[in-house]
Amino acid sequence: MIRVEGLSKRFGDNLAVDELTLHVRRGEVFAFLGPNGAGKTTTVRMLAALIAPTSGRAWVNDHEVSRDDMNIRRSVGILTEAPGLYERLDAVQNLALYAKLYEVDDVARQVERYLRLLGLWGRRDEAVGGFSKGMKQKLAIARALLHEPPLLFLDEPTAALDPEAARTVRDFIGEVKEEGRTIFMCTHNLDEADRLADRIGVIRQRLIQVDSPANLRRSLYGRRVVVHLAAVTEAVRQAVNGLPFISECEQVDNTLVVGLDSPEEQNPVLVQRIVAAGGAVQFVNELRHSLEEVYFSLIQEGEQEVAQ
Ligand SMILES: Nc1ncnc2c1ncn2[C@@H]1O[C@H](COP(=O)(O)OP(=O)(O)OP(=O)(O)O)[C@@H](O)[C@H]1O
Ligand SMILES: [Mg+2]
Repeated sequence: MIRVEGLSKRFGDNLAVDELTLHVRRGEVFAFLGPNGAGKTTTVRMLAALIAPTSGRAWVNDHEVSRDDMNIRRSVGILTEAPGLYERLDAVQNLALYAKLYEVDDVARQVERYLRLLGLWGRRDEAVGGFSKGMKQKLAIARALLHEPPLLFLDEPTAALDPEAARTVRDFIGEVKEEGRTIFMCTHNLDEADRLADRIGVIRQRLIQVDSPANLRRSLYGRRVVVHLAAVTEAVRQAVNGLPFISECEQVDNTLVVGLDSPEEQNPVLVQRIVAAGGAVQFVNELRHSLEEVYFSLIQEGEQEVAQ
């Protein structure tokens, strides 16, 4: 769906994107994370054929960037950071204008479909200048989808939205994914990336890491379970430390934080041992690092690499 090989973009002396290599699969939600100025929007603009790369190659929906830009623009939808709408036109007129530009077959039907899907049908004949930020954002998302592109670029789709509007947009992204479309989105909302994305790419000029949220956590921290006990006794500690598959065991109050590779197989043995040693197990859960922790570790790693 998207194949990028050594793509770079330079603005004067400023190397905004440095040798990006990346594959995004069909039907996947791919979240692009990185600090301000990391090159996320620049990447999206190159991939949507809005600006030309300085070097490297990329294919989007099997069309090559810089060679087949017309077909790329036709086959993608894009929500930009500051989507311009015609403020004096109403919602229907705004969408109809784009639908005609994109040679959509049944303009009236498509416009109605997306206005209804995004909850704007009731406000369809009001001038967009009077819309709230969230309503404008939803309208811009509708506009990106009118021509039913298989691939959608969303640059910070929920930035500046209130929690309810953000949830509507997130749910909508989920629905668009269910339809089998591919979504490439930039976001600063780590929780959103964690919930929506199949894979996450962290960029800071250079791509630092790409993987599923679960694998990112695992590769950084391994897996750890937390065993809550009525009391942690010496006998329990010894029983746990005697297990060959334990990489670490730390006591925090009445819990033991235990490092192991495969909780699915090893937890039953762990619990058996604790019980045999007289421990009263109340519950066991996996320690889950927040994506925020993962993100900061990766960004720091990226910084160190640059410094070297
Ligand atoms: N049109 C342009 N002319 C000159 N420099 C630009 C232009 N567009 C982007 N840049 C520079 O490229 C770098 C990457 O910017 P970009 O907008 O891609 O970052 P971003 O990751 O989207 O950041 P943010 O999270 O703030 O949106 C920045 O240093 C920016 O100043
Ligand atoms: Mg940006």
